Amino acid sequence: MQHSWSRRKFIGTSGTAMAAGAAPAAALAADAARPSAVRIVGVACSPRKGKTSAAALRACLDAAKAASPSIEVELIELAGLSIPGGPAAGAPLGPGEKDDFPQVMAALTDPRTAGIIVATPVYFSGLSFLCKAFLDRLGACRRNNFALADKVGGVLSVGAVRNGGQELAIQAVQNALLCQEMIIVGDGRPTAHTGATLLNPGTDDIAGDEFGLATAKNLGRRVAQVALRLAGLAAG
Ligand SMILES: Cc1cc2nc3c(=O)[nH]c(=O)nc-3n(C[C@H](O)[C@H](O)[C@H](O)COP(=O)(O)O)c2cc1C
Repeated sequence: MQHSWSRRKFIGTSGTAMAAGAAPAAALAADAARPSAVRIVGVACSPRKGKTSAAALRACLDAAKAASPSIEVELIELAGLSIPGGPAAGAPLGPGEKDDFPQVMAALTDPRTAGIIVATPVYFSGLSFLCKAFLDRLGACRRNNFALADKVGGVLSVGAVRNGGQELAIQAVQNALLCQEMIIVGDGRPTAHTGATLLNPGTDDIAGDEFGLATAKNLGRRVAQVALRLAGLAAG
């Protein structure tokens, strides 16, 4: 798919370049500079490793990957990592306190990363404490010449109650991502709302949440499609 797009695009650009008297080599160079793949990174912000937020994010990323052979995905679970929030406000780390945020930030700011999907459990109608610490630490990206600008952002949330605050949690995360100059999208068609909203029925098993899983897949597909378009690559 990527090759057919490149060929079409090359014929178009080289034709224009030759008509304008420019060297076709310029069009070739532009084609060579275009990325051959884009990466979507998912960040699961539950303190519980491998539970419902991570499972929903996996379904979301699988759908992103299925959108095109040009999509690569990576899932990062913050559970088990140390993401202290204090440094976001200039507070020093405690004695012997570990900070794993730099490795997470490196994955997100990598130029190959074109999309970021944040998954948070709903905690009292909002985002989790770990998600808030993570988003506050992303302030470092703003100070680094807005290193996340123009990356595509999507948000997913899982609650134990239908209407337990999933959309409120999503909006809080989206607001923080907007501060990074990211391009925010919701779950794509046919659900097409704020983002992915899932229900944990109390068993930590979301497999039966047909609607919620559909929103997760639609979100992954939508993030992938927009990231591909921005990269000049065709969606599958
Ligand atoms: C402190 C706390 C507050 C919670 N508040 C809500 C809530 O307001 N609404 C809701 O639907 N679920 C709430 N839950 C349930 C979690 O959102 C739900 O169990 C979710 O699936 C947990 O995500 P995880 O499996 O990825 O850890 C809360 C859970 C905890 C621990």
